[in-house]
Amino acid sequence: MIRILQFGSTGQVARCVLAAAEARVQVTALSRAECDLSDSAAIAAVIEAADCDLVLNCAAFTAVDAAESDPETAVAVNVDAPAAMARACAARGLPLIHLSTDYVFDGAKGALYAETDVATPLASVYARSKLAGEAAVLAYAKGVVFRIAWVFSPLSRNFVTVMMRLARERDEVRIVADQTSTPTSAVDLADFLVRTASRWAGASEGDEAFGLFHFANAGIATRFELASAAIARDPQTRARLTPVPMTAFPEPSPRPVYSALDTAKLSRVFAEHPRPWREAVVETADALVANGALNS
Ligand SMILES: NC(=O)c1ccc[n+]([C@@H]2O[C@H](COP(=O)([O-])OP(=O)(O)OC[C@H]3O[C@@H](n4cnc5c(N)ncnc54)[C@H](OP(=O)(O)O)[C@@H]3O)[C@@H](O)[C@H]2O)c1
Repeated sequence: MIRILQFGSTGQVARCVLAAAEARVQVTALSRAECDLSDSAAIAAVIEAADCDLVLNCAAFTAVDAAESDPETAVAVNVDAPAAMARACAARGLPLIHLSTDYVFDGAKGALYAETDVATPLASVYARSKLAGEAAVLAYAKGVVFRIAWVFSPLSRNFVTVMMRLARERDEVRIVADQTSTPTSAVDLADFLVRTASRWAGASEGDEAFGLFHFANAGIATRFELASAAIARDPQTRARLTPVPMTAFPEPSPRPVYSALDTAKLSRVFAEHPRPWREAVVETADALVANGALNS
C-alpha cells in the first residue's frame, strides 16, 4: 500500500484526505504540534526519517487577511516550508504534492486561467507567498502543485458552511455576486489525490504527472450562486438572500474578482474530469443538514 507523509491533520483538505484514505493508502498526518511549518529544520528531519512513498503538504498559512499583519509567519509557512520540503524530498527522490490557490491570479483576464497564464497576484501577502511557495516546489523535478479555488466540504468551516449557518440565523444574508471562480470540493480533490498517489510514487523525473495543475469542479460560479445552491437545500433556512458587490465587504487583503481555473491539463494528463460544482455542493449541503453540523 502506498504510504503518504502528510503535513497537516486538522485542516479542511487534510481531513478530507484522511477520510478518503480508508484502506486505499496509508496516511501519516502531522499536526502543528508534531511538525511546525515555521521550523525548516524540523521539516527536513521528519522527511529524512519518514517511511513513505510520497509527501503531501496540506498545511499552509491560510488566514488571508491575517497574513497582512504577520507577513513573516506567512512567508515562513507558505514559502520557506515548501522549499524545505522540496529540498528534503529531492535528497530522497520522493514526490512532493503541494496545494496552491487561484489567488495567484489578479483576475484581470476575465476568462478561465490555464497553467500557462502568467500569475501576477494582487498586493496580497497571502497570494504572493503562495506563488513563491509554488516556485519552490516546481523547482524540484518531482514537485507537483495543484491550484484550487473556493474550497468547500462538510468537514470544516468554509464559505458554504458559514453562509448556510447565517441563512438560518438571520432574516437577510448579503452575498457577493460579482466575484467569480471555480468552486472546489475538498472531498473530490482528496479522492483524486488518494487515487493518484500510486501514479506519482511510481513515476520517474520527467513524467508529465509532475508539474503545475489546476484542480476544480466543473463550471464557474459567483459567490452568490455557490451560496444559493447550498442554502436552497436547507429546510431550516429563513433568510432572504441579497446580491451585493465585493465593495460591500472591504477586506484588508484584495481578492481577485475573477479566478476561474481551466482544468483541461488535469483531464489530459490524469484523465480526471471533476463533476459539476452544483452536484458537489448539493452533496455537501445535504450532508451538513443530515448530520446536524449546522445546529451548533
Ligand atoms: N480553503 C480554500 O478556499 C483554499 C482555496 C485555494 C487554495 N487553498 C489552499 O489549499 C491548501 C489547504 O487549505 P485548507 O482549506 O485545507 O486549509 P485550512 O483548513 O485553513 O488548514 C490549514 C492547515 O495548516 C495548518 N498549519 C497552519 N500553520 C501551520 C504551521 N505553522 N505548522 C503546521 N501546520 C500549520 C493548520 O493547522 P492548525 O489547525 O494547527 O492551525 C491546518 O491544519 C492550502 O495550501 C491553501 O492555501 C485553500
